[in-house]
Amino acid sequence: MSDIVLEIKNLSRRFGVFTAVDSLTLSVNIGEVFGLLGSNGAGKTTTIKMLTTLLPPSSGEARVAGFSITTQAVDVRRAIGYVPQAVSVDGSLTGYENLLIFAKLYDLPYREQQARIREALEFMGLTADGSRLVSEYSGGMVRRLEIAQSTLHRPQLLFLDEPTVGLDPIARDAVWKHLVDLRNNYGTTLFFTTHYLEEAESHCDRIAIMHLGKVAALGTCKELEDSLGSTDHTLNDVFVHYAGNALDSGGTFRDVSAERATAQRHG
Ligand SMILES: Nc1ncnc2c1ncn2[C@@H]1O[C@H](COP(=O)(O)OP(=O)(O)O)[C@@H](O)[C@H]1O
Ligand SMILES: [Mg+2]
Repeated sequence: MSDIVLEIKNLSRRFGVFTAVDSLTLSVNIGEVFGLLGSNGAGKTTTIKMLTTLLPPSSGEARVAGFSITTQAVDVRRAIGYVPQAVSVDGSLTGYENLLIFAKLYDLPYREQQARIREALEFMGLTADGSRLVSEYSGGMVRRLEIAQSTLHRPQLLFLDEPTVGLDPIARDAVWKHLVDLRNNYGTTLFFTTHYLEEAESHCDRIAIMHLGKVAALGTCKELEDSLGSTDHTLNDVFVHYAGNALDSGGTFRDVSAERATAQRHG
């Protein structure tokens, strides 16, 4: 059996004459925590949308859990979970009710639904909050609920698009603690994008730095730091070297205003 759960080969996506993702090639191993880094507009979200079968590639191919994203999209969807950057839970429902909708959507056996929901709430540290309206949740709790929701069917591979953007450091740590639990207990492979270099440093087995739609660097954080030469280099130096600028962790105006809108909607 192969140890590879995600295999991307020359994957490209064009929008008109503009190439957003340019011949991307990389593999991710089972159980790996893989971080895709890059400035705004590097092509990270477009990549995740293709891998989750939401956006057809212009050319190239990827296999997710052994299934082709172009010819076996339904099988791919069953094997994965996806936490999009935008809020994907309903604020007017309780945490429990949000999960129940997804338990039905994923067609979990009726007898198992309650146990799975209980377990998912517990796994994400939300047991005490399951019966509260999501509009009362903090940003970190909303994120953890989204992770619970996207893993109810125990996917082999979980895609997360900027899972901790806009969260304070304590909420970010809590989200990560639960993601690591998920990996350690179920062997779930995590493929995520981030703006936070510290996050890549603390949690990723390997990272890829994307720049103008291409993979500019790929390896462990240590390997990439060593690749710059003999003296001590930080991951920030690595980023500047391969992406040509410092990573702007503040996000774009669009990101920030989207966060604000979310914060307003969710109290
Ligand atoms: N639907 C679309 N139509 C046209 N251009 C797009 C579309 N989606 C993304 N792009 C462009 O592709 C580039 C990569 O976008 P994206 O994948 O969202 O980057 P990232 O997630 O790394 O910030 C950007 O220049 C963006 O404007
Ligand atoms: Mg993005």
